[in-house]
Amino acid sequence: MRILVVGGGAREHILAEMCRRAEATVLAAAPHANPGLEKIAEACFRTPVEDAAGIAAFARLKRADVAVIGPEAALAAGVADALRAAGVPVVGPDRAAAQIETSKRFCRELLARHGVTAMPRFQGIDRLEDLDAAIAAFPEPFVVKPVGLTGGKGVLVQGSDFVTKDEGARLARRLWGIPGGSDGLVLEERLDGEEFSLMAFVTDSGVYPLPVVQDYKRALEGNTGGNTGGMGSYSQRDHLLPFLSSAERDRAVDVLRQAVNALRSEGQQYRGVLYGGFMLTAAGPKLIEFNARFGDPEALNVLTLYEPGNFAELLHDVATGTLQESLLRFRRRATVVKYVVPVGYGGAPQLGATLEYDEPSIIDAGVSLYFGTVEPAGGGKVQLTASRGLALVGEASAIWEASERVNEALKFVHGSFYARRDIATKVDLDRRMERVRQLFAPGAKPSPLPLSVSPAAFPPASHGTAEQLI
Ligand code: AMP
Ligand code: GLY
Repeated sequence: MRILVVGGGAREHILAEMCRRAEATVLAAAPHANPGLEKIAEACFRTPVEDAAGIAAFARLKRADVAVIGPEAALAAGVADALRAAGVPVVGPDRAAAQIETSKRFCRELLARHGVTAMPRFQGIDRLEDLDAAIAAFPEPFVVKPVGLTGGKGVLVQGSDFVTKDEGARLARRLWGIPGGSDGLVLEERLDGEEFSLMAFVTDSGVYPLPVVQDYKRALEGNTGGNTGGMGSYSQRDHLLPFLSSAERDRAVDVLRQAVNALRSEGQQYRGVLYGGFMLTAAGPKLIEFNARFGDPEALNVLTLYEPGNFAELLHDVATGTLQESLLRFRRRATVVKYVVPVGYGGAPQLGATLEYDEPSIIDAGVSLYFGTVEPAGGGKVQLTASRGLALVGEASAIWEASERVNEALKFVHGSFYARRDIATKVDLDRRMERVRQLFAPGAKPSPLPLSVSPAAFPPASHGTAEQLI
């Protein structure tokens, strides 16, 4: 089988690697030379991921049997539409259905029309002159975000990014000027709890959930610094998370199903990956956002666990509408991803640092290496750009063990870079568990809890058992 991978980061590198292991021929379309993709792919087309016509022509020329799209910018630019029009089945929705990610307003209004309640209260603002009145009337605490795509960077959260409504209104005005902001803003109730990422393959035959992952969005250790696309992530060997029960995961899966049904009932077909960014609140999981693609770094956790099986066939099945469940097998191991990024990433990144990496020693440490957006510099060296550079992925029986493995492997990367060594360490996981215990402590939240998440259903012991896994 011949598979076209669109995008040039570590997520696309692992997608290509999984196809290679399934003995598929890989083709790549990416804006820069990814050393991992270049090694695997039979042909690489250097082009912006928004080049829908060019990518479709390349797919036809190279006789791609199926395409998988990584970045949202490609979905927003209609790359899936162009590939389908050229007769190439795609893992990734058309531009119209991808609005579930590309327009926060489309997403919220779709869910509201179809009675989905597991989301924060929201209000759209179309005109700058309505902003002050809307903020004045909206209950606190709240969040302001642009309607359009901003790479997770345009969100203002009351309590961390601003304190008073006046301050929030002043900062919100500035959002109007950034790309994605001029389409309008959304005000949202602030959700408090623990975030988790739930991805699923979606095709005509159903919604097939993947192991749950937790992403670390803040740039610096201790969860400080700016919001980023994700500095690292972990998954637990039972495919849940230390703070997440299977009942809660199932409720989140229901939200994905409801969204897919809502799209279908409005005439939108969806073949691809649907990613729900959820907050586990005292009142159960609530949806923060959808992505219409694999998460990055989350894809690295999940695909690392894919059982030796035919990944190429799996992609083909999703793209053509019927998925055999027998192809969906994931090993029961914990995984941890940590990204090597330029110093200053999440703010003002230093460009052009040269890194030397000793891949055999990294592999000996039981860790896999994937390339993000780097410039190859020859012989075990790369140059960092403004984006995430190298992804190191460890697996083990317990999460903290996988985290330690990655920290050991980071010793084999030399040069000026930053990585969050605190991700998924014992101390970090204990702190998270403590926060969740407080969240579920009787009286912690004045609003009544639905029966399924009553404090009785969450005695500390039920979370305590997870400690054997972390
Ligand atoms: P988004 O661009 O919607 O993915 O938001 C980026 C990040 O902002 C999320 O991962 C959360 O950490 C935070 N965030 C967004 N919306 C909310 C909300 N309603 N309540 C609390 N935090 C939020
Ligand atoms: N890690 C978050 C994302 O892929 O959008």
